[in-house]
Amino acid sequence: MRTQVGIIGAGPAGLMLSHLLHLQGIESIIIESRSRQEIEGTIRAGVLEQGTVDLLNATGVGERMMREGHVHEGIELQFNGNRHRIDFAELTGGKQIMVYPQHEVIKDLVAARLKANGTIFFNVSDVKLVNIESAQPTIEYTNEFGEPQVIECDFIAGCDGFHGPSRQSIPKSKRVEKQQIYPFGWLGIIAETPQVNPELIYAHHERGFALLSTRTPSIQRHYLQVDPKDDITNWSDDRIWSELHARVDLEGWTLPQGPIIQKNIVSMRSFVCETMQYGRLYLAGDAAHIVPPTGAKGLNLAVADILVLSQGIREFYEQGNQNILQKYSETCLKRIWRAQRFSWWMTTILHTNQNHSPFEYGIQLTELDNVTSSPNAAANLAENYIGLPFELPLYKHELSQK
Ligand code: FAD
Ligand code: PHB
Repeated sequence: MRTQVGIIGAGPAGLMLSHLLHLQGIESIIIESRSRQEIEGTIRAGVLEQGTVDLLNATGVGERMMREGHVHEGIELQFNGNRHRIDFAELTGGKQIMVYPQHEVIKDLVAARLKANGTIFFNVSDVKLVNIESAQPTIEYTNEFGEPQVIECDFIAGCDGFHGPSRQSIPKSKRVEKQQIYPFGWLGIIAETPQVNPELIYAHHERGFALLSTRTPSIQRHYLQVDPKDDITNWSDDRIWSELHARVDLEGWTLPQGPIIQKNIVSMRSFVCETMQYGRLYLAGDAAHIVPPTGAKGLNLAVADILVLSQGIREFYEQGNQNILQKYSETCLKRIWRAQRFSWWMTTILHTNQNHSPFEYGIQLTELDNVTSSPNAAANLAENYIGLPFELPLYKHELSQK
């Protein structure tokens, strides 16, 4: 097989890239190790930045999100028995976020690719990236019927998440990996209860962090800080509810409770791979960087990488130069480090860390006090949470009204 861009991974990064390339008349093939049903059923992110929402709308895949998603104009921070609202709209000149689940974004993008006769091969295995230093790299893999396959292409996009093979294909001597692993994880649940609050609640408590989020008026998504090595079988539904109540209930307010329909534990890390490019291989999204979910940035960063990459590839085919592509890592890493700082900061101020000294704990509480009492500090949180603007040199015309 031959295509212009070979894409490894059908997560938000890979699907969005294929979609944007298609709109510019550039061919791609996506290979994905899981089934369509699995990628469309995996519960992950919930919060989309304004820039991501605008891009989905501008490229024709935002219709269901606008119908079924929920616009939020702020969040609440809870600590010491009080809630404090951070008003994004007021602090950022009217910007908002959208609560719309990642797997619904995936469904919308898969449907758009298939409707446009796009090619996605599911259930592949043994993926290898070959000759990535040459102008004609290839991807070798085994298809779902056990047959060996080869895709020849001009570019390979490594959109295969943190554990995929793309990043490992860059020689060790050419990449520097910077990471921090946190001594906590998140236990996430999906529960059938009425909506808890009009906006998300991020709660700091001496027993640990808790986050109350939502999916639909009757389905909620909540998280508890737990030991990352803990096993989900240690958490009965009763234990989860009693821990959530201990951390979030206030005088006169009790968290609504109902059947838990899904639960799991994820560990948390901050990770950056410098460089994001080697030869004709470009890494995007979680393949190149991970943020702890406290800042709700991972999916949005993946989309921002793809916007730069798709413009670089378009420039290559339309104008025959690689100006944007040559600066791909540098351009993306600027935003990535800003998001890393913000996600690390949100994580640090909100979680309980047994390794911290009483002095560090004092500073942590003062950070929470500062961000909820100083409008300048609150504006900084709001600006980062709603997301930095996307850079669109080649899309100015198409997206100028957005
Ligand atoms: P992925 O979604 O990981 O997709 C990679 C794909 O590549 C997968 O489908 C995988 O199966 C496939 N793959 C892997 N290996 C191979 C292979 N060898 N061959 C072929 N395919 C392969 N982000 C936000 O912006 N907002 C949030 O509110 C938010 N909340 C989160 C909450 C939780 C609990 C978690 C865990 C994450 C959250 N995130 C959030 C982060 C977000 O989910 C990720 O950053 C996002 O999924 C990254 O997209 P991606 O396409 O880069 O990678
Ligand atoms: C979610 O709804 O899944 C969610 C919301 C906010 C976060 C992380 C996850 O910071």
